[in-house]
Amino acid sequence: MLQNIDTILEEARQFKAETKEEVEQFRIKYLGKKGVLSGLFRDFKGVSSEQKREVGLKINQLKQYVADRIETLLADITEESGNEKTVDLTLPGPSLLSGARHPVSIVRNEIISIFGRLGYTISEGPEIEDDWHVFSSLNFPPEHPARDMQDTFFIEKDPDILLRTHTSSVQVRVMEKESLPIRTISPGRVFRNEAISARAHCIFHQVEGLYIDENVSFADLKQTLLYFAREMFGKKVDIRLRPSYFPFTEPSAEMDISCQICGGMGCNVCKHTGWLEILGCGMVDPNVLEFNHIDSNKYTGFAFGMGIERVAMLKYQVRDLRLYFENDIRFLEQFQAAY
Ligand code: DAH
Repeated sequence: MLQNIDTILEEARQFKAETKEEVEQFRIKYLGKKGVLSGLFRDFKGVSSEQKREVGLKINQLKQYVADRIETLLADITEESGNEKTVDLTLPGPSLLSGARHPVSIVRNEIISIFGRLGYTISEGPEIEDDWHVFSSLNFPPEHPARDMQDTFFIEKDPDILLRTHTSSVQVRVMEKESLPIRTISPGRVFRNEAISARAHCIFHQVEGLYIDENVSFADLKQTLLYFAREMFGKKVDIRLRPSYFPFTEPSAEMDISCQICGGMGCNVCKHTGWLEILGCGMVDPNVLEFNHIDSNKYTGFAFGMGIERVAMLKYQVRDLRLYFENDIRFLEQFQAAY
């Protein structure tokens, strides 16, 4: 009988289980009512009294071993099922959301690339500015409405520290520190104290352009902007310059592109004019050159400024400016970066 118990013990040692059901089968086989151990206890009655002690000890050891084994088997199974056991490696993996560049970044990069091909460098300036760089050196008269609290976010008064309302301030920073000729674009964030609507936001992006050299003419400006418009919106695009006013340019103009939706025939996007306004531009006012110690008898220049969201709205035909700031993934995932 002792040998029999050893064999059973060895058998129990060899047992391996993958599932809880298999462990349960194991338990029933050894510890169940009609199980191996019940059988052994039954046989124990017939054991001679001199052997009883030894055999009884062995049976109890076996019973204890089986009980312990059941516990460890169960513990192993639960532990594993928390990990890789539940992962079916043959299943296709969960699909990952792939990110897309933000449309404002796409358009900004495209603008940089287009002007890069014309030899323009990129320059940047601070978002927190002083009155001199945003207004005074750009020839804004002291009473100009753009300086008003209604448009400008002031941080401090006297001396005025404010959030720049346009990237034209970077023109001044470049004129201060760089030698001539200058040919640069300045993309960046600007801030205006405006109520948020489909057409206006208190934060948006602009790209400023500045070209100063000897003999720079309005014809150069026009040709540069035509090149830009056709690279950005397609070869069929026409441009139109309307006289306008900016304190820092003289003469000043606003540029329209022909409406691509109706091909110039008139639709509700172009308000039945066939044209869409896209940027402001002009010849740098001699005052601005002189403020920045550039000889306006020798040098001339042109400047232009456009809103990146505005360009993106026209390019992607998005009607509501707010979409660019809400970061709704259903909107963002529609843009695939070309740049
Ligand atoms: N700074 C102007 C604005 O924010 C845009 C602009 C117009 C920039 C004409 C220029 C320019 O450089 O020449 O509306």
